[in-house]
Order: sequence, then structure tokens, then C-alpha cells
Amino acid sequence: MNICMIGAGYVGLVSAACFSEFGWTVTCVDKDPQRLAELKDGKSPIYEPGLDDLLQRNMAAGRLLFTDNLGPAAKNADVILLAVGTPMRRGDGYADLSYVYAAVEEIAPHLKGFTVIVTKSTVPVGTSREIERRLRAARSDGDFAICSNPEFLREGSAIQDFMHPDRVLVGTDDERAKDVMGRLYQPLALRSAPVMFVGRESAELAKYAANAFLALKISFINEIADLCEQVGADVQELASAIGKDRRIGDKFLHPGPGYGGSCFPKDVSALIRTARENKSPVSLIEQVQRVNDERKIAMAHRVEAAAGGSVRGKTIAILGATFKPNTDDMRDAPSLIIVPMLQERGATVRVVDPQGRRQAEPLLPGVTWSESALEAAAGADVLVTVTEWNEFRALDLKAAKAKMRGDVLVDLRNVFTAELAHAAGFRYSAVGRKPEEIDLAPAPLALRA
Ligand code: NAD
Ligand code: UDX
Repeated sequence: MNICMIGAGYVGLVSAACFSEFGWTVTCVDKDPQRLAELKDGKSPIYEPGLDDLLQRNMAAGRLLFTDNLGPAAKNADVILLAVGTPMRRGDGYADLSYVYAAVEEIAPHLKGFTVIVTKSTVPVGTSREIERRLRAARSDGDFAICSNPEFLREGSAIQDFMHPDRVLVGTDDERAKDVMGRLYQPLALRSAPVMFVGRESAELAKYAANAFLALKISFINEIADLCEQVGADVQELASAIGKDRRIGDKFLHPGPGYGGSCFPKDVSALIRTARENKSPVSLIEQVQRVNDERKIAMAHRVEAAAGGSVRGKTIAILGATFKPNTDDMRDAPSLIIVPMLQERGATVRVVDPQGRRQAEPLLPGVTWSESALEAAAGADVLVTVTEWNEFRALDLKAAKAKMRGDVLVDLRNVFTAELAHAAGFRYSAVGRKPEEIDLAPAPLALRA
């Protein structure tokens, strides 16, 4: 099978590499010259565990190619997948579809023979229909079908998620397209992954509904964590108790500084817009968005309260800048709110992140970058965990405390325990833990907004 993947970002690159691992010939087209140069050298331009090996193996086998020349790749393709970005549009919070429609315009002249065109990008309901309208207008002679095939992988475990999906969702009513898509995913179906064929609108909207539901779970547990702190309950005990109920499930119940990343914030926003436009508002999800926005601000206040009410003149060591571990992605990371707030209040901020520095450096002006958590801790008044990288879990807290000027540890990801923190000589603040385990009270509720 010949595949053309448009966009070599987090989704396009991982999907292209995984499809080539099945044995399909995949040509990945991207416009970013630096990205292409790195890829042609066999290096991944993004950090994703296992991706370098997968790229090198399949490039060496000659079935994974990178180019900026769309024409030949599109002409020879059985399937063209669109994996370009759909970021939040400035001003109205809707999905910016300009990259999608630009790519559609570019492929139109090159279509030859029956071709299935697939939106792998997350696109608002109705986009596949609009792509079809545009392509039919440009190529009335064209023989093609437009499918929705949203991607559910997570950064940091993208290859595992792609290779072992809970489901593959294909939105199409076209029988020939169903055949082609069935063949494309046959290697996964043979390994028992459910390949579900549904209507295009259902597939498009399901992606947003899935992300909004997961975002809702996170905002829910974050609010419950706050309540735990007020009433003497422990959120981890509570989460594992409610998570045992299979109707609830134990995933996505980790409280923290609010969800970030390239998907949840923008997809929640786009869903809210779609719902309002269709006069069917999702008020629950509007509340999820508000709770999450306030959460990031509240976390900066929490650090300030733990530092004794002011961070002015203090040095704060931040462990982790990326929105989650095992990625270098900084899109909508909580650190982008927390760090500038601390700086505005007069703190000197040091940051360490195992993979995020390249992307984070231009986004976090005025911070000092450290090579290790211990280096960041040296002379600091407050240590804050913002991203739960494994190497921070392994931090020798006694050694960190010995290097610090202060004794405050604010654990926004519940990476440590009060016992460990106390044994190292820290005063400890974590999220949703029992008051007797926490020395530093959370910020008053009034400060949260
Ligand atoms: P990204 O920004 O990392 O990558 C997009 C790539 O597309 C860039 O390399 C860009 O240069 C390229 N591009 C843009 N227009 C192009 C064109 N006309 N021709 C060739 N290349 C072009 O984006 P991403 O994070 O991979 O997300 C892509 C889509 O997948 C989005 O719709 C996103 O919502 C969705 N998605 C992302 C994730 C994730 O974890 N990142 C997960 C599921 C779904
Ligand atoms: C998400 C979806 O999970 C994935 O299915 C979709 O394809 C893309 O968006 P991703 O953004 O890569 O994936 O990471 P995810 O693990 O979902 O985490 C998103 C954010 O939620 C992170 O900021 C993370 O720290 C936060 N989170 C997640 C929590 O705060 N608590 C949790 O329990 C889980």
C-alpha cells in the first residue's frame, strides 16, 4: 500500500513511522525545511520515546521517505492522510483550519486514480464534508472519498498507543473507502484492535467528545483534591477507591496543576464554539475550561503561599517545564502560566527539564536553565515539581535540601510523599493530601481566580 502523510509533526511522524513498520510505503511530506533536514539525517525533530529507532529502521528499509515535494507522493498514493496542525484560532477559540484547507488545495491537482483522503488531524464536525465540497469544486473529474480517522495517541507513549489502540475510528459511508481503510489498519485488526466504521460526523465529533470527557475527569479530580484539603481527606486514597468502580475507571484521576498540551485546551475550546454555533451549548465543558484556566493561576498562588506569602527576592527552582513527561512539547504547559506569575511577583526562577529546553527557552524569558534538579536546587528557597519526569522522582531529596537556602517543597504533581520530604528536612505542600501530612497550607480559596 502507498501512503502519503501530509505533516511530519507529533501525529504525522509517529503515524507515518508506525504505518511503515507494518510494511506500507509511506512518503511523509512537510514544509518545514529544518524538520526535513533532521529527518533526512534519520533524526527525529521531536522527542518521543522509541521514535528514533523506528525512523531509522524503516528509512533504512526504504519504506519511509521524507520530502517537500507533494506532487509525486500524492499521485502515487492509495491513501493521503492530513496530519497538519489545527491550533486554536486567535480571537474566537475555534479550530484554525487554514493548514487543512491549504493542504487540500495543494493535493487537488495531483489526485490520480481512486484515492482515499483522510483527516487524521482533529477537525470540527462538518470539516470532511467541506473538504469534499472544495475538492469536488477543484476536481470535478476526481475519483476520491473523504474519511475521518481521528487519532487518539498521547505524546510520550505515542508509539505504544498507535500500535495498541483501544479502537481505530473510521468515519465514512463509502464502501470503497471502507475497503481501503480496512486494509490500511489490517495489521492492527489482526492483533485484535477494534476497527470501528461510523458516519463521518460521528467520528469527527467523537474525537472532541473523548478529549472533553478526559479533560472533565481531570478538572473534576482537581476540584475534589481542593475539597480533600479542606476536609481532611486524601485525594489519592479517594481516587483509588472511586477508580475501582469500572464505570468510573482509575485513569485520569491524578490531580495536578491543570491539563495542558497540544490537544485538550484547544479541543475543549473548539467544542465549546461548535456547540454554541449549533445552539446546543456544552455548559459542563465550558465550566471545565474555566476550572482549568483558574487552576494554573491557583498553582502560582499556592507556591507564593508556601513561600510564606511572597516570592519577592526569592529563588524558585522549577522541576519540569513540559506539559507532561516524556515529551518536549510546551504547548499550553502549566509552566507557561506559573513561571511568569512568579517572575512578575519578584521571584528569580530556575528551570530544569530533561527534554523541554529547546522549545521552552523562547517561551520562558528571564529564567535560568539548569542541567539537573540538584543544580537548580542549589541556593534556591523553594523547590516546585511542575512535571512528573521519572528523573525527578529519583531525586535525592536530602542532597537537594542540603544545597538549598530554604526548606520548602511544593509538589504540584504529588511525586513525593510527606514522609520522604520530612526525612529530607523539607516543609511540604502537595495537592489534595491530608492536612497532617502537609506543613504548608494551600493558598486561600479567595486567591484562586
Ligand atoms: P504539529 O504542529 O506537531 O505538526 C504539524 C506539521 O504539519 C508541521 O510539521 C508542519 O510543518 C506541517 N504542515 C503544515 N501544513 C503543511 C502542508 N500544507 N504541507 C506539508 N506539511 C504541512 O501538529 P501535531 O501535534 O502533530 O497535530 C496534528 C493534528 O493531530 C492536529 O489536528 C492535532 O489536534 C491532532 N492530534 C494531535 C495529537 C498530539 O498528541 N499532538 C494527538 C491526537 C491528535
Ligand atoms: C491527549 C489525549 O489523552 C489523547 O488521547 C489525544 O490524542 C491527545 O490529547 P496528551 O495531550 O498527549 O493526549 O497527554 P495526556 O496524557 O492526555 O495529558 C494531557 C494533560 O492532562 C497533561 O497536562 C497531563 O499532565 C494532564 N493530566 C492527565 C492530569 O493532570 N491528570 C491526569 O490524571 C491525566
